[in-house]
Amino acid sequence: MKKIDICLSPDLIHQYDLGSTVVVVIDVLRATSSITTGIAHGVRAIRPVETLGECRELKLQGHIGAAERGGKKVGGFDLGNSPFSFMNPELEDTKIAMTTTNGTITLKKSKGALQIIIGSFLNFSALLTYLERLPCNVLLHCAGWKGKINLEDTLFAGAVVFGLKQMFEYASDVPVMAANLYRHYKDNLKSALEDSSHVRRLLDLGLEKDIEFCLKFDAYKVIPVYKGEYITKMKLSDMLL
Ligand code: MLT
Repeated sequence: MKKIDICLSPDLIHQYDLGSTVVVVIDVLRATSSITTGIAHGVRAIRPVETLGECRELKLQGHIGAAERGGKKVGGFDLGNSPFSFMNPELEDTKIAMTTTNGTITLKKSKGALQIIIGSFLNFSALLTYLERLPCNVLLHCAGWKGKINLEDTLFAGAVVFGLKQMFEYASDVPVMAANLYRHYKDNLKSALEDSSHVRRLLDLGLEKDIEFCLKFDAYKVIPVYKGEYITKMKLSDMLL
């Protein structure tokens, strides 16, 4: 039977065999929410990079530059990491170079997987519909915060496991823990996240609207897929069904 597991931090990804696995990268506050939003609004491609220098170089080569550190937009770039910035119609059909504190590192560390896709509450149902039809193993890869486990990504991973019901065998105890966490909080996610350190960080930055938006289920039907150096909108021909 196909198996599902959860990697709670990119610092643990070395423990997982990715070659025959579809990896779902999760950074709901806010990288994967912003990526999903941008792709849904017509951004042609997003290139995740680890350093500000790489992002600056790609900006000089004609990419839109999106850079965030510690939740704040980095000066000298066009965008930070707010999903609202990724809705701009002027970004339609552009290529964006993106670097964030956690999400882009997690994407890069997922290299070697059979396929890398992007998950958020915003494309939750589209993601589940795809995952339940996959014939292979799935790993939910949480970005966390600077290598540490965080509440929101774990909760989202639990929502995915809970939503998939028994379609996958659990490869470890983590899916059980995360699904039970989600089961406990599912009727009031916002209150569950009041204890999240990153929610507090974003609130201190006046970004309550970002938090509210990133917790919306099913705002979009797209599934972004990370192939080669770029993230694009998944096409039928990308599907491993
Ligand atoms: C991210 O990678 O999403 C950042 O660490 C957090 C943020 O942009 O708020």
